[in-house]
Amino acid sequence: MGSLVNKHVLMGVTGGIAAYKSAELIRQLQKAGATVRVIMTPAAQEFITPLTLQALSGYPVHTALLDSAAEAAMGHIELARWADLILIAPASADFLARLCHGEGGDLLGAVCLASSCTIAVAPAMNQAMWANASTQKNVNNLNSRGIKIIGPGEGYQACGDVGAGRMEEPDLITDQVKALFTSNLLDGKKVVITAGPTREALDPVRYISNHSSGKMGYALAVAAVEAGAETILISGPVNLQAPERVTIMHVVSAQDLLDASLEAVVDADIFIAAAAVADYRPAHNAHQKIKKNDDNISLALTKNPDIVATIASLEKRPFTVGFAAETNDLENHARKKLNNKKLDLVIANDVSNQSIGFNSDDNQVTIITNDSTEKLPLMSKGTLAIHLIRHLASCVSK
Ligand code: C5P
Repeated sequence: MGSLVNKHVLMGVTGGIAAYKSAELIRQLQKAGATVRVIMTPAAQEFITPLTLQALSGYPVHTALLDSAAEAAMGHIELARWADLILIAPASADFLARLCHGEGGDLLGAVCLASSCTIAVAPAMNQAMWANASTQKNVNNLNSRGIKIIGPGEGYQACGDVGAGRMEEPDLITDQVKALFTSNLLDGKKVVITAGPTREALDPVRYISNHSSGKMGYALAVAAVEAGAETILISGPVNLQAPERVTIMHVVSAQDLLDASLEAVVDADIFIAAAAVADYRPAHNAHQKIKKNDDNISLALTKNPDIVATIASLEKRPFTVGFAAETNDLENHARKKLNNKKLDLVIANDVSNQSIGFNSDDNQVTIITNDSTEKLPLMSKGTLAIHLIRHLASCVSK
């Protein structure tokens, strides 16, 4: 089963005696690699203090929707975007009812409404409350909306009753959380992804490059491998850790990236070009360091090969996906790219907006194909990658 390395888990703790188990749950999630932030409802704070969960999570615990200090640091919308998963454990009968009705009058409810990520709940309540028709109806409704229900377990309860309603044990919840990040949507498929910038050498010590962080391509590689694909990530120079279970090919220049892509793409089902390839390279790569003798020097540049267009023109081509970073007239420019490069799909984003794109942790994109346009909301690159991989899996399984 997968790990939770680099995953952002936003844990909601609601009122119930099982709140004491949330302390151990934080530990288990962290042990699996997750970063955990916590939201507590007022009732939860009657059972366990925010200080305990702050000390364990290593982050301030969020407790109020209308707290100007907290909103300035990380408000409810940022928390919603930060999360790769919202896990509510314990989830009381009252919270399940409020979640079912989409109530956003408190912080936890508002964050659930504002987030695009998966939501999981671990119900914990008295067995009669769990068995109650209202609770069951709410749980069925949440389940039908794709909210994951973990447990509850059966056995002795704090109130003296015996039956179903105990919060699942932290190790079991952690296993189920890991499973939520994995699927078999791309089982048996091979996915090749390019990421990061390229560097085009001027001389032995200098190069032309760009500010691409590689975050989007790396997030896509994680999502692809978690969907069961054999995943090859061809990466330019970035400061990111190689994702687990992904075959990584390190490249420097656009020519290296092309060579590696042509090698990797044999038998591939999907090719995603997330790399920010330098459009031009110096016409001459000097063998010796260029000396600063002259007041002015000119730099002759030669056009680099277009990697994604080359892959799209192969006789046996994978489903080929390009990115289009635009500052204006997004859809028109992206459609031109789709047609000119003969791509199957373009992921377009507006880079005139400073809060998304290069180097940012968030992104907002529009998915464009020959016959469709789908605008996705702003979300973290991790959550976006999961959405995009699900979309691509549905394209190649048609
Ligand atoms: O033409 P433009 O650079 O805007 O196109 C962006 C898309 O094309 C991205 O998917 C990028 O990875 C890809 N690209 C490429 N080779 C190039 C230039 C861009 O694969 N030389």
